[in-house]
Amino acid sequence: MIELRYPIIEDAESYFRILTEGKFEYYHATIPESVDLEREWIKRREYKRENNLEYNYSIIYNNEVVGGCNIRIFQESPHIGEIGYFIDRKLFNKGVASKAVKELERIAFEELGLIRLEIRMDPRNKASEKVAIKCEFEKEGLLKKVMEFNGMYFDNLLYSKVK
Ligand SMILES: CC(C)(COP(=O)(O)OP(=O)(O)OC[C@H]1O[C@@H](n2cnc3c(N)ncnc32)[C@H](O)[C@@H]1OP(=O)(O)O)[C@@H](O)C(=O)NCCC(=O)NCCS
Repeated sequence: MIELRYPIIEDAESYFRILTEGKFEYYHATIPESVDLEREWIKRREYKRENNLEYNYSIIYNNEVVGGCNIRIFQESPHIGEIGYFIDRKLFNKGVASKAVKELERIAFEELGLIRLEIRMDPRNKASEKVAIKCEFEKEGLLKKVMEFNGMYFDNLLYSKVK
């Protein structure tokens, strides 16, 4: 139903639209300021992959980009990866993120050789927490003020799955 593939430059407009129109609450990530800057961001993904820093994927549904997801490798403990995701608001609650996480899990454990995967989210982000629960990640606890964003500090719930 969905497919993951590496982002290509042509995805920049979809990313920009999804991230700016989405007006996501509790999503502590930088929103691109222009399509051009989003193209630059996509160009840097290859460097990130080649240096085992981060693996980004576009989520494709009906031949369209409907979101993005990634596995970020913990540089101090490279057997650990953290999953992230965002979906076009028009397709919320149709199982797209959960399917993407299942595919990321396969990539992480079978292709990248990771041993531990984490999903962290703001405790108010109920949809994201539900994705972790549906994908059978285990709740480990609350990390207090672990996330710094725009000069503010946010708690995160920690979910994990180990191989
Ligand atoms: C989080 C996000 C990726 C989920 O994507 P999605 O494709 O809608 O996820 P799924 O459809 O697989 O699952 C969502 C689940 O959350 C549930 N849900 C949604 N809003 C909810 C709420 N306010 N309270 C409780 N459950 C909620 C849905 O009902 C669904 O569960 P169900 O399948 O049992 O009905 C999407 O909301 C998003 O892109 N948010 C903005 C970016 C973001 O917050 N990313 C995560 C950062 S940690």
